[in-house]
Amino acid sequence: MSIKILGIETSCDETGVAIVDENGKILGDVLYIQDFIHSKFGGVVPEVAARRHIEVLPVALKEVLEKAKCEIREINAVACTIGPGLMGALLTGVSFAKSISISLNLHFIGIDHLEAHINAIFLEKNVEYPFIGLVISGGHTSIFFVEGIGKMELLGKTLDDAAGEAFDKASKALGLGYPGGPVIDRLSRNGDPDRYKFPRAMESSPDLNMSFSGLKTALITLIKKENSIRIEDLCASFQEAVLDTVFNKLKRAVEMKRAKRIVIAGGVASNSRLREKAKSLSEEMEADVFIPSPRLCTDNGAMVAYTGLKYLQMGYADSIDVDIYSRWKGIEIGKKIRTALFKG
Ligand code: KG4
Ligand code: ZN
Repeated sequence: MSIKILGIETSCDETGVAIVDENGKILGDVLYIQDFIHSKFGGVVPEVAARRHIEVLPVALKEVLEKAKCEIREINAVACTIGPGLMGALLTGVSFAKSISISLNLHFIGIDHLEAHINAIFLEKNVEYPFIGLVISGGHTSIFFVEGIGKMELLGKTLDDAAGEAFDKASKALGLGYPGGPVIDRLSRNGDPDRYKFPRAMESSPDLNMSFSGLKTALITLIKKENSIRIEDLCASFQEAVLDTVFNKLKRAVEMKRAKRIVIAGGVASNSRLREKAKSLSEEMEADVFIPSPRLCTDNGAMVAYTGLKYLQMGYADSIDVDIYSRWKGIEIGKKIRTALFKG
C-alpha cells in the first residue's frame, strides 16, 4: 500500500510543507522563507512570523500537492512540529495541521523540532544507531546521544544564545543583515581566523554545556577599540571561536560515549568551515560524520513528515489535543494506535 504523510513546519520563520511516501522518499517539498521580511529588523519578529505563516500555509499546501501529484484525500496522516519554537508561529502550523486531520479523519503526529532536524539525515542516508547528534541552529545548540526514534538523551546545550543566534547578532552589530550565518560564512573564506582574539567560553568546564553570549560583547568591544578592521578577518576569527566552542564539546561527547557516528543538523550545519572541522574531527576520532545537504539543514517540512512516518510505523500517533511547547522538555511519545496503514 502506498502511504503519503504530510509534514508541516512553522516553529520559527520558515514555512515548510512536504509529503513523503512510505519509504521516506520526498514526493513534494515546498518552503517559504521570510528572511526578506525580518532582515529590516535584524532578527525574527515573532508576531510578524506568525502572520506570514498564516498567509502562506494554504498556498504552500496547494503547491506541495501539485508537486507530489496527489489529491488531499490521498494523504494518510498529518505530522506537524509542536515545539520547541515561537509559540505564535507554532500555533499557526499546528492549527492548520489539526484542521486537516480532523476534517479528513487522519492521524495527527506532533513532532519535536530537534528530533526532526536530526532525522533529516535519513532522507538522504542510512545511519546506524546509536550516534551523537548535534543540533546547531538559530534557536538551538544541543548535543544528544541518539539511540533510536524518540530516544534522545540530552548531553549538553548552550546556556544562553544559540550558535546561529551568535552569528545573527554579530552580523547585526557589523551591519551585515539577517540572517548572519551565510554572510559571515562567505566573508570568512577570505579571512584569517587567527587575526583577532575571541574567548572560547566554558572550554575547561567538565560538562558539555556551551555559552556564546560573551562573543557578541567581545565583538562590540573590539569594533570600538580598533581603528581599522578587516571585516573578512573579523568574521573568520569570530566564526572560528563559535565553532571551536562547539567542537570542543562535541569531541568530548564522542569520547564520553565512545561513539562511532556523529550527525550534525540544523541551519548552522550548512556552514562551510563547520563542514571542514567535521571532517577533521571524523579523522581524529575515527568516527563517521553525517551532515544533511544544506537544504535539509535549515527548517523544512520533509524532516517533519519523515519523523511522523517513523512514529506511525512504530504504531504511535498523538491525541488531537496535544499541546505546543516553547522549550525542549524531552520527547514525549504519543499514544499507541492501531493502524491498518503498515500491515502487509
Ligand atoms: O535551522 P534553522 O533554519 O532555524 C532554526 O531552527 O533556528 O537555522 C537558522 C540559523 C540562522 O541563525 C542562520 O544564521 C544560521 O542558521 N545559518 C548559518 C549558515 N546558514 C544558516 N550559520 C552559519 N553558516 C551558515 N552557512
Ligand atoms: Zn530549526
